[in-house]
Amino acid sequence: MKMSNDALREANAQHMFHPMADPKAVRASPPLIVERADGVHVWDVDGKRYLDTVASLWNVNVGHNRPEIKQAIVEQLDKLAYYSTFVNTSNPPAIELSARLARMFAPEGMCQVLYGSNGSDAVETALKLARQYWKLEGQAGRTKFISLKWGYHGVHIGGTSINGNPVFRNAYEPLLPGCFQVETPYLYRNPWGETDAAKLAARCADELDRAIQYQGADTVAAFIAEPVQGAGGAIVPHESYWPAIRRICDKHGVLLISDEIVTGFGRIGSMCGARAWGVAPDMMAMAKGINSGYVPLSATLINERVASAFHRPGVPAAVMHGYTYGGHPLACAAANANLRIVEAEDLPARALDVGGYLNERLEEFRRYPNVGDVRGRGLMAALELVTDTASKGMLAAPAPFVQKLVAVARDQGAIIRVQGNRLILSPPLVFSHADVDETVRILHAAFDAAGRAA
Ligand SMILES: Cc1ncc(COP(=O)(O)O)c(C=O)c1O
Repeated sequence: MKMSNDALREANAQHMFHPMADPKAVRASPPLIVERADGVHVWDVDGKRYLDTVASLWNVNVGHNRPEIKQAIVEQLDKLAYYSTFVNTSNPPAIELSARLARMFAPEGMCQVLYGSNGSDAVETALKLARQYWKLEGQAGRTKFISLKWGYHGVHIGGTSINGNPVFRNAYEPLLPGCFQVETPYLYRNPWGETDAAKLAARCADELDRAIQYQGADTVAAFIAEPVQGAGGAIVPHESYWPAIRRICDKHGVLLISDEIVTGFGRIGSMCGARAWGVAPDMMAMAKGINSGYVPLSATLINERVASAFHRPGVPAAVMHGYTYGGHPLACAAANANLRIVEAEDLPARALDVGGYLNERLEEFRRYPNVGDVRGRGLMAALELVTDTASKGMLAAPAPFVQKLVAVARDQGAIIRVQGNRLILSPPLVFSHADVDETVRILHAAFDAAGRAA
């Protein structure tokens, strides 16, 4: 029997724990229950329509309800719903996807893929393969990981340990030993008060260099970063930063892992984030846009340098890592159909075009007293909310001001996301200029109604 909407709300409050939320707050302020979606819109159980300005969770890149993807899933379902890819079984959609990913990321030198079901899996896989790589290379002492402050790499214990924002770490400490964070090229807030993006990039790269030397290069397995920090609030480094960190990693032999979970497949205007900086990492962690969230899937891609250590004749190199659902046929079939759309519709180019317009329009929000910074690249943008622009004070959470922004936007027909003190926009890559105009109209209504944060 179908549950009534009231019964759904009650059961949600009683029985569901929501990620990234205090259960008491969820009970006090029930979530929006989304029932269906199409294109760039979703509908709640009461039939109200909302513009999805966040592509659910930066992932529904080709939009909701695409017939091509649904058909690919159903056709695959008729043949094979699931079979494992452990040890010595495989399946056609997973193989086709692996070849497709190797072709798409040939410019970065990627050649082999290990699958998981979500971004956290992809990161964990990258960290474990990095450690195993060094053992195979005869340098078992290289076990440490360096990452960036404000970086987000998911929720497994490895990812939590390399996350650069205490809110994701504190409740779960003690974390993995041997993980260190260095400064992010975050122009709006950095410890030196540096206001020149190129100089800040050089300082931050230098900090990585010194951190590797301080730890001892022969103890450091890898450096991991997002090309543009997502959860950190669309923090876009200067063009010199990624080339500099590639040089530093090479100087010390350290592996460079690009966390492409948000930036992969077009969001910032290039097929992967590292490509925008002309840099080839050693590994790439990918998820989200790989199949736009139609079925859970992630992929960890490795280059020839990493792969070759596992293929050395006579050296045992079993990968004792992997997930039951890695290479799931339905997820891979969805990914193949999704990536055909991404390429056929040239969604990276569209993200650059529509994202350029979005970022231009967002500049209008600098006039509000609680908007300290506006930044972004492609369809990844953030407004940084502050107590006042002079002090750049952080809003204390949960801020009634933020709750008001979200409530008014919902009332006006848009789902927006505020994480901490950052209002994040990450719409589907099929967003149009008109959708940007509608987003901006609703955001103005929200800021006007919310007034000034106390
Ligand atoms: C950069 C980055 N890495 C990793 C993850 C973790 O992905 P998931 O939530 O699918 O585990 C996320 C999720 O937002 C992310 O943004």
